[in-house]
Amino acid sequence: NEIDRILNRDFVSDFRSGYVEIGEDNFCLPIYYEYYQEAIKTFKVRNDDVFLCGHPKTGTTWVQEMIWLIANNFDYDTAAKKIIYERSPQIEFPALFDITKLCKDLPYMQGLRYYHILEGIKSPRVIKSHLHWSLLPEEIRNGSKQPKIIVILRTPEDTCVSLYYYSQSAEAYKGSFQDFCKLFLAGRVCFGPFWKQVLSYWNERHRSNILFITYKDMKNDLPAVIKTVAIFLEKPITEDQLTKLTEHLSFESMKKNPAVNYEVGLEYAKCDGAATVRNDFLRSGKVGGYKSEMSPEMIEKFKAWTKENTEGTDLVLH
Ligand code: A3P
Repeated sequence: NEIDRILNRDFVSDFRSGYVEIGEDNFCLPIYYEYYQEAIKTFKVRNDDVFLCGHPKTGTTWVQEMIWLIANNFDYDTAAKKIIYERSPQIEFPALFDITKLCKDLPYMQGLRYYHILEGIKSPRVIKSHLHWSLLPEEIRNGSKQPKIIVILRTPEDTCVSLYYYSQSAEAYKGSFQDFCKLFLAGRVCFGPFWKQVLSYWNERHRSNILFITYKDMKNDLPAVIKTVAIFLEKPITEDQLTKLTEHLSFESMKKNPAVNYEVGLEYAKCDGAATVRNDFLRSGKVGGYKSEMSPEMIEKFKAWTKENTEGTDLVLH
């Protein structure tokens, strides 16, 4: 079908490896997920862990830096010295394993060696995930452990545009924007389908250990979101700390901060054959930027698709 044709023709595929489709929602994951899904399921969670969950390109790195600093007593020195994915690893990257074994048959994984082993990280750990709720560690889902979970939400349109540019620069996507939108709508981009992923968290909103925040609110009033997050994490924040953190998290400041702008990650992608890599992880940082990227017809398609997928839920992202 058309979607498979686009995937085969234009994508050296996310993580340049292909997808596995997992669970009843046909969740699209990098193929190496199969190697460590069991370890994620049985992962030993700590009550003082903080999980940051969200679809790729919803602003997860932005929130990660915020949470890490609040949880770690505003330790700006360490934050400057250690790259974000070392301080705050992502559970679905192979951090739980002897990575050299895992990488044996997957040469493209060699670049990921710099990920720390999660178990070795001191509490409070800030752990990121793009996974569907159903694929998180069992101890979180059955409530036997109660880590704080923060979920970041962004409109699918802006998420799609951001993912398109990222896929071009880091994943060697060669196709058109129009075709990429089709893949996104069909749920055939990594960690999609978008609404299934988002709603899998939204359906858990009754839990007292989950907080939802939005990219839009962070853009409109970052200090207010920081305060909400600090209260949720039970970490007091003074006015001075708030002012400093707001400045540290500004787009301009993060863009020039190599500890969060993925310069290093993209360098690995470059070695790995994704020839079109450019360093624009912090690309435009806008709300509604999709309006100048998508055709009116495509915007209508997204609207109808959102309506269809969110009907009966009270989730509104626009
Ligand atoms: P754009 O591509 O729309 O600019 P993630 O970290 O989940 O991959 O999300 C990346 C998106 O978050 C990018 O969106 C990036 O620019 C945006 N982002 C990261 N830090 C930001 C900041 N300090 N302010 C605004 N947007 C930010």
